[in-house]
Amino acid sequence: MTTRTEVTSGAFAWRRIHSLMGLWLIIYLLEHLIVNSQATLWLGDDGIGFVRLVNTLESLPYLQVIEIVFIGIPFVLHGYWGVKRIFTSKSNSGSSNGSKPSLKYGRNRAYSWQRITSWILLIGVIGHVAQMRFLMAPKEVRTDSEIRYVVTVKNDPGLESVAKRLNVVLETQGDDVIAKAKSPGKAFLMMVRDTFKSPMWCAAYTIFVLAAAFHAFNGFWTSLITWGVLLSYRSQKAFLPICWMGIALLAFLGLAAIWGSYWINLRN
Ligand code: HEM
Repeated sequence: MTTRTEVTSGAFAWRRIHSLMGLWLIIYLLEHLIVNSQATLWLGDDGIGFVRLVNTLESLPYLQVIEIVFIGIPFVLHGYWGVKRIFTSKSNSGSSNGSKPSLKYGRNRAYSWQRITSWILLIGVIGHVAQMRFLMAPKEVRTDSEIRYVVTVKNDPGLESVAKRLNVVLETQGDDVIAKAKSPGKAFLMMVRDTFKSPMWCAAYTIFVLAAAFHAFNGFWTSLITWGVLLSYRSQKAFLPICWMGIALLAFLGLAAIWGSYWINLRN
């Protein structure tokens, strides 16, 4: 039989694991968005910073193990307990006919948005990984003398000149174009450019990035309460602008990567 103390300490431990994994995911998110923003931020350099960083990451030994241990498992642990928390908590900032509270204060709204953004992140991350890590990701093709990283893209007026500058070979196959690059970084850049030339994908990823930015730094604020760092009302209030700056920074990096990798930096 489970005693009350066991239930409580289990929940306590899970709460801490959830919080630690959330904090770890913020660090990963920052790293990920810094790398991606390099596809855009140094205008006119053809995303060479992105290519260099992706090549470095792709050259790490045991990359798949690293991805599972440092990204997959923290995400699953945080997401598992997050979903459980959502089903056992009640937001109280929505509209009401008087049968439940309807508190329109900033922190009550943030509590609700933390939960709404959880769903966007859960669906968004699964979709993003399926799309960019598996379905569209470059395939490694080895011949006796060379290795090429191959992606399938759609033709557009600027494709040829961008491919020429990046030293990527193009081969037309029906409606598609097969891009063959000498490094994984360049192949990933071609894939990112191809995705974000669609305004629909830009819009979907905009919602995803804004949700992630809010969830991460609003979560950072609540985590400082979880760990007893922000206890007084004054300290909690004083720290809010810092979290908004964190949200703005993540949003800027993410939106730069989405809207800049084709529409600003690599269109022609
Ligand atoms: C980019 C991915 C994510 C990051 C960076 C992240 C980060 C965080 C952080 C730092 C916290 C604060 C923890 C605390 O208060 O101690 C948090 C809270 C939370 N997260 Fe996430 N999270 C992510 C994805 C998810 C997903 C996919 C879900 C569930 C579907 C989720 C559900 C929650 C919930 C429900 C809370 C609020 C817990 C509470 O108020 O007690 N998160 N998140």
